[in-house]
Amino acid sequence: MNYEEMDKKLKGCLKPERYEHSKGVELLAVRLAEKWGADARKARLAGLLHDSAKNADKESNRLIIEKIGADESIKASPSLWHGPVGAHLLKEDYGVDDAEIYDAVYYHTVGKAKMSLLTKIIYVADALEPGRDAYAGWTAACREKAFENLDAALLEVADRTIKSLIDRKLKINTGCVDIHNEMVEKLKK
Ligand SMILES: [Fe+2]
Ligand SMILES: [Fe+2]
Repeated sequence: MNYEEMDKKLKGCLKPERYEHSKGVELLAVRLAEKWGADARKARLAGLLHDSAKNADKESNRLIIEKIGADESIKASPSLWHGPVGAHLLKEDYGVDDAEIYDAVYYHTVGKAKMSLLTKIIYVADALEPGRDAYAGWTAACREKAFENLDAALLEVADRTIKSLIDRKLKINTGCVDIHNEMVEKLKK
């Protein structure tokens, strides 16, 4: 499947605003990959396809989560399912068979410590693509920060996520806490 075919297929699977967001993530991920020396082709595909399972049927996503043996904290939060499910379907639905893209899509919402450069880029691009600016006052400045110091932007995105989960009295997945701890330590040096 070539890029145009993937793009067309994705458009048919997502609500219009989710498709627009995906295109925003794709563009920002490519720019960040060029800036930080990641593979721009992989960034383009991971950005485009990261939310491919977002608007899928909840029950079919649940079955895939069971099948791939996602950890308990992911299983308990349906809003986290689309990352691992999207990663699982990359090969089957889009013919993308690549471990780095799989990892970036899998962890784009949950996050984790010791992320690869590509996974970091997708994690921050998901939060910072320009379409997010209408919902949050901090994303434009943080987007600029991502071009100066990717780890500092990563820390801010993880911390904003933690704060927002606290404010909404929701469970905090350990991935963003792990990012916080790792980046605080790293940026101190
Ligand atoms: Fe997502
Ligand atoms: Fe997204």
